[in-house]
Amino acid sequence: MEMSDKRFVGKNVLITGAATGIGRATALRFAHEGANIALCDIKGRELQETAAMIAGTGQKGLPIVCDLCNMKDLERMIDTALGQFLTFDVLFNNAGIGDTNAYFEDIEADLWDRVYAVNVKAPFFISKRIARIMIDNGIKGRIINTASTEGKTNRGGSIVYASSKSALIGLTQALAVQLAPYEITVNAVCPGLIDTPIWHRADKAMELPDGSAIKMIVESSIESRILKLPRVGTPDDVAGAVIFLASEDAAYMTGQAINVCGGIEMH
Ligand SMILES: NC(=O)c1ccc[n+]([C@@H]2O[C@H](COP(=O)([O-])OP(=O)(O)OC[C@H]3O[C@@H](n4cnc5c(N)ncnc54)[C@H](O)[C@@H]3O)[C@@H](O)[C@H]2O)c1
Repeated sequence: MEMSDKRFVGKNVLITGAATGIGRATALRFAHEGANIALCDIKGRELQETAAMIAGTGQKGLPIVCDLCNMKDLERMIDTALGQFLTFDVLFNNAGIGDTNAYFEDIEADLWDRVYAVNVKAPFFISKRIARIMIDNGIKGRIINTASTEGKTNRGGSIVYASSKSALIGLTQALAVQLAPYEITVNAVCPGLIDTPIWHRADKAMELPDGSAIKMIVESSIESRILKLPRVGTPDDVAGAVIFLASEDAAYMTGQAINVCGGIEMH
């Protein structure tokens, strides 16, 4: 038998939050392994950059700018993606926003609505459409959601973000149950401290020098031995786990929430 080191040749992948960070790194890993990718994000310029990087690998990368808070825009994004790709083998619900650890008395309903719209509601409604396409085409597909270690154990005290990631783990398990008869697996990755733009936006929101939030928390987590592997995580660290969950090697795994966190979380 001839073995190929490219595991996703002829496969179509849809990734949200593909403009930067974990989404971009994962898109590139899929492209290097032969997949074509529909890329969704609210940030047009960076999304175009990701698409250009994918084109550089010889694969197709279709950028679709979309605000996942807006249901009409979300449905239009899926229509566009399906119009070009017809079916999908892998869905990576990765877009997410934080709440910069807002103090409980400062939290208003609109923060709650925005964070849950992107982190929980959008993954459900995208999965709903894409799972139907997988079922209709007999595809034993893969759905992977980006949760967080904060969704398992709340260390930072964030209320809206951490609870949304717990909800996303719950959604992952519920969909895993309902889609199991079709051999569609649904899993989550739970990143720990990963150096991506999400942290740099938090610096800006909290008026801290660029790069200081992640540096501070990584250093103190190493010192207190919460972070066992003594370094910050990279987007590629997470991409490796996503690619594994999308691969044939993970065919018997569903409903799991895999930590990628240097040992911060062990369950
Ligand atoms: N970086 C970390 O330490 C860390 C830890 C745990 C979980 N995560 C999760 O990883 C995922 C990816 O984040 P990242 O760290 O790569 O940061 P990132 O900011 O680079 O990626 C998140 C992407 O989501 C997009 N997005 C946000 N709101 C959107 C909307 N309304 N519509 C469409 N796209 C939208 C952003 O534009 C961005 O490109 C997120 O779900 C995040 O919560 C990150």
